Amino acid sequence: MGQPTPALNDDWWRSAVIYQVYVRSFADGDGDGTGDLAGVRARLPYLAELGVDALWFNPWYLSPMKDGGYDVADYRTIDPAFGTLAEAEKLIAEARELDIRTIVDIVPNHVSDQHPWFRAALAGGPERELFHFRPGRGEHGELPPNDWRSEFGGPAWTRLPDGDWYLHLFAPEQPDLNWAHPAVRQEHEDVLRFWFERGVAGVRIDSAALLVKDPRLPDFVEDRDPHPYVDRDELHDVYRGWRAVADEYGGVFVGEVWLPDTERFARYLRPDELHTAFNFSFMTCPWDAARLRTSIEDTLAEHAPIGAPATWVLCNHDVTRTVTRYGRADTGFDFATKAFGTPTDLTLGTRRARAAALLSLALPGAVYVYQGEELGLPEADIPLDRIEDPMHARSGGTDPGRDGCRVPLPWTADAPHAGFGGEPWLPQPAGWASYAADRQARDPGSMLALYREAIRLRPVLGDGPLTWLPAADGVLAFTRADGGTLCVVNLADTPATLPAHTAPLLASGPLDPEGRLPKDTAVWLRA
Ligand code: GLC
Repeated sequence: MGQPTPALNDDWWRSAVIYQVYVRSFADGDGDGTGDLAGVRARLPYLAELGVDALWFNPWYLSPMKDGGYDVADYRTIDPAFGTLAEAEKLIAEARELDIRTIVDIVPNHVSDQHPWFRAALAGGPERELFHFRPGRGEHGELPPNDWRSEFGGPAWTRLPDGDWYLHLFAPEQPDLNWAHPAVRQEHEDVLRFWFERGVAGVRIDSAALLVKDPRLPDFVEDRDPHPYVDRDELHDVYRGWRAVADEYGGVFVGEVWLPDTERFARYLRPDELHTAFNFSFMTCPWDAARLRTSIEDTLAEHAPIGAPATWVLCNHDVTRTVTRYGRADTGFDFATKAFGTPTDLTLGTRRARAAALLSLALPGAVYVYQGEELGLPEADIPLDRIEDPMHARSGGTDPGRDGCRVPLPWTADAPHAGFGGEPWLPQPAGWASYAADRQARDPGSMLALYREAIRLRPVLGDGPLTWLPAADGVLAFTRADGGTLCVVNLADTPATLPAHTAPLLASGPLDPEGRLPKDTAVWLRA
């Protein structure tokens, strides 16, 4: 077991490009149809060539996979479908050799129902106190203890044969932990140490604002303040404890904090709490210049007073793929409005996604790239009988679920299964091979070529604050630091005249014959 590698640059996370690896669908090294650590190790040169600074791995621990690994049965064991702990250690070290850091995903809100704690709780042991077990309401306890709903649909409670109910904000196979219990806190701090000791540089915190529940478990009342389980004040004490652990190793956190209230969001980023959190307001923002500008301004304004860097996210393993979302009438994202059969113009969506890539990579802060985003993969339609995501079944079949953005990657156009490995656990749609990385690597006009070039050039933008430049309606124009490099994005219907410049550094599409920037196109310029 290696000592943590001394950080070459302690501040790397403030402006990093972080690539999200959904291991199950990244690359299949052993040919069983499920991505694995061997597959990731074999593709490290690809990631190094892309130029990313860090990899965030979705949960890779032992799991019955009832929610794609977010149902963790043992944090200290790699799921055998993915590999072994020794392999994970090798992967972390090999990536570090390439100057790529590793971020693991910790899921503190809940565990798998196969976790030893929950099995002991089911057997009636004192471990019940580690969860939220309650008698039901109604004459015979036949009604759930309160009216909370699962994030995946249906009640947030499941009844056991002995009559008690247990709480699960997600699937029934994901019982919620009781964060008022000291053993829960202790265990998580130990798990953090376990992974920091193995050289990881950071931790993504799943569902970070949901852990603490009002101990009375009251009914949910709209607009209740404080909410019975979202963003409770007690959480900040938990994260101060975590920060103390991370500081011993120079580790950093990124929180999955979905909160509309920017002031409440920023509280998680105070100097003794989390380093960063995902910017979901930007991710869900429609393709609209005024709204994007507001989102960017609000983001920067809310981060500035606490000195935390912003993050910029276009998609992840939970949301509709960017090229698909931007090709629809509603270009924002909302879990509540996902539906089958939404009309999509992929040509339009891809053009906008290319512009959005240059926009987000030009902004001050860290940028997240979700595997396949750099290939311009669209959301796939998964045959109904192959959908595994619990969101689909628990919605009564109305929500397509999240598997459409989790389809195994196409690597080699001419190989079986587009070079992913064995018969993929989720089917690849027809035409998937046309997105293959090998083909795109040879095409200077490809999405992959754009991402590679943008990440390579990103440092020329400087690391200073953003300054908006005067621009026509529907056009975003700004510079960073010394004003030497500009980013201009045109979302207006008419071509935009560019500010004075020497030569375009990089454009998401060709300029028109008059040298103007067409609609849905972005460019980086030398002033
Ligand atoms: C987070 C994850 C999501 C998972 C949920 C429950 O939102 O990103 O994939 O289903 O938490 O762990």
